[in-house]
Amino acid sequence: MQERKPQSVGLGKVVIDRAALEAGVERLAAAVAGDYAGHDPLFVGILKGSVFFLADLTRKIPFPSQIEFLTASSYGGSSTSSGEVRITADIVTDLRGRDVILVEDIIDTGLTIRHIFREFASRGAASVKVCALLRKKTAKNGGTPADYVGFEIDDTFVVGYGLDYDERYRNLPEIHEFEPNPQGKESQT
Ligand code: PRP
Repeated sequence: MQERKPQSVGLGKVVIDRAALEAGVERLAAAVAGDYAGHDPLFVGILKGSVFFLADLTRKIPFPSQIEFLTASSYGGSSTSSGEVRITADIVTDLRGRDVILVEDIIDTGLTIRHIFREFASRGAASVKVCALLRKKTAKNGGTPADYVGFEIDDTFVVGYGLDYDERYRNLPEIHEFEPNPQGKESQT
């Protein structure tokens, strides 16, 4: 019997291929490593989308580094976010005096990262910087902190390398465009 597979209707062209992703992550890691040499940064991956990016990025950092994970959800119930972001699974490390690097797969509206940035700053971190693999070219994310950005992309829905559509496609090794079901979600979140 043939195995049942999730449909790939909607999967579009490759936007960033494997080689470009690797080179981009290499560039980001070199920049971060240069800035944090002699420090003890805490990398915090925003789940689930950042999982592959964080794994690849931190393995290119040439000094021992601490890694944490956090899960955040934005609530709204429609294709546009309500603007309310909640941390649903928190880190355990005391942030007082720490130099934190938030590792995010994509900045779309920027709501998620702005919320976490404010929250972490209020916990007494010495510094909070943002390292994002992708940032959408849209006015929606104006004012969002982003100290390291791998790729600026058009304001289209993308999947792969951690990014999902309806919890599928995260495991694609490259970034693809995706045409969401018109009845489904339209925003990247
Ligand atoms: C996605 C993505 C970012 C966020 C970006 O996460 O991984 O964390 O949305 O969108 P924003 O800039 O508009 O806030 P999502 O909440 O879909 O969870 P996931 O990482 O588990 O897919």
